[in-house]
Amino acid sequence: ARLVVLVSGGGTNLQALLDACADPAYGAAVVAVGADRDGIEGLARADRAAVPTFVAKVGDFTTRDHWDRALADRVAAFEPDLVVLAGFMKLVGPAFLDRFGGRTLNTHPALSPSFPGMNGPGDALDYGVKVTGATLFVVDAGIDTGAIVAQTVVPVEVDDTTATLHERIKAAERTMLVDSVGRMARDGFTVEGRRVRLG
Ligand code: GRF
Repeated sequence: ARLVVLVSGGGTNLQALLDACADPAYGAAVVAVGADRDGIEGLARADRAAVPTFVAKVGDFTTRDHWDRALADRVAAFEPDLVVLAGFMKLVGPAFLDRFGGRTLNTHPALSPSFPGMNGPGDALDYGVKVTGATLFVVDAGIDTGAIVAQTVVPVEVDDTTATLHERIKAAERTMLVDSVGRMARDGFTVEGRRVRLG
């Protein structure tokens, strides 16, 4: 399966996918990495793996919708089977979802439907929950609302800061992402309403 991965930051989830794809038995290849900003480690990781990259910045377009269409065009050029948002900090819009809805995945560092949005780890910490985790889902028009593919549970420790909790979540998140994307790539998947079935 051909994967296009979109990033906005450090790209440790991307790195986990790149490492997994080095094994032919994994059944997927990262064919391109896109970003909404320059100069990020995620793009450097792609360069080091000799994977083509592209950047589409919202500010370079007259409207958000133009950006959304341009992003979809750039992604489409690489003919992906799956698009993986791996720490991509923008919401994709209707034009993008028209073309890639049902096969665009995102990971969220909380157990959906709890704590959607930009600060899942901090919101979980502030609420005082004892377990949190990460959620892999099929992107829809909402914020972290899509049909759930997989979830992984992580304990909250008494001395956690948002940073230490997020690091623990990210370790589990990478494993979940690699396992699930591999299964989806090798065996396929179906989405029926909110139920995602692998294989
Ligand atoms: C991940 O926890 C992701 O869920 C969140 O941002 C983090 C990205 O980390 N949206 P990285 O860029 O893959 O290291």
